[in-house]
Amino acid sequence: MIDEKIAKLINEQVNKELYSGYLYLDFANYYADAGLDGFAHWYEVQAQEERDHAMMMRRYLIDNGVRVTFDAIGKPDKKLTKTDDPLKAGLEHEQYVTSLINHIYAEAAKIHDYKTMQFLDWFIKEQGEEEKNADDMIKKYALFGHDAKGLYSLNQELGARVYTPSATGPAM
Ligand code: FEO
Repeated sequence: MIDEKIAKLINEQVNKELYSGYLYLDFANYYADAGLDGFAHWYEVQAQEERDHAMMMRRYLIDNGVRVTFDAIGKPDKKLTKTDDPLKAGLEHEQYVTSLINHIYAEAAKIHDYKTMQFLDWFIKEQGEEEKNADDMIKKYALFGHDAKGLYSLNQELGARVYTPSATGPAM
């Protein structure tokens, strides 16, 4: 069993990860409408990864005897008007998610819940990667996104992203 407060925080995080997926699909909708199918694809893959994160947390709770409950998933709330708005909103969102994961980790550490800390290690590392990916996208767009050829190449590059399920995920 895990502590009730920790279980509640992870259960809330399941919802936040599903929201992240929803948000990234909203970004994909924006890019699909703008004719940037590679950008749209990149965020569709990202949305799949977010669902994986939610499922890993859900599984951790179930495997520890917790009854998982679902809440309503919020409406994506980022204002998307310029081509790089989703990129910037993505970095901001990942920084927020990192703060949430860090908070759960800190709460687990307080009560010496080493099992949950070990489970969260995977997410701590993943958040580092997610923030770097989001930051790289902003930098690439700043460098290449402002002329037609550069934007075309970037769209091609992002369109080549391959979804790899987070199969192993964190240690349970
Ligand atoms: Fe599940 Fe993008 O962090």
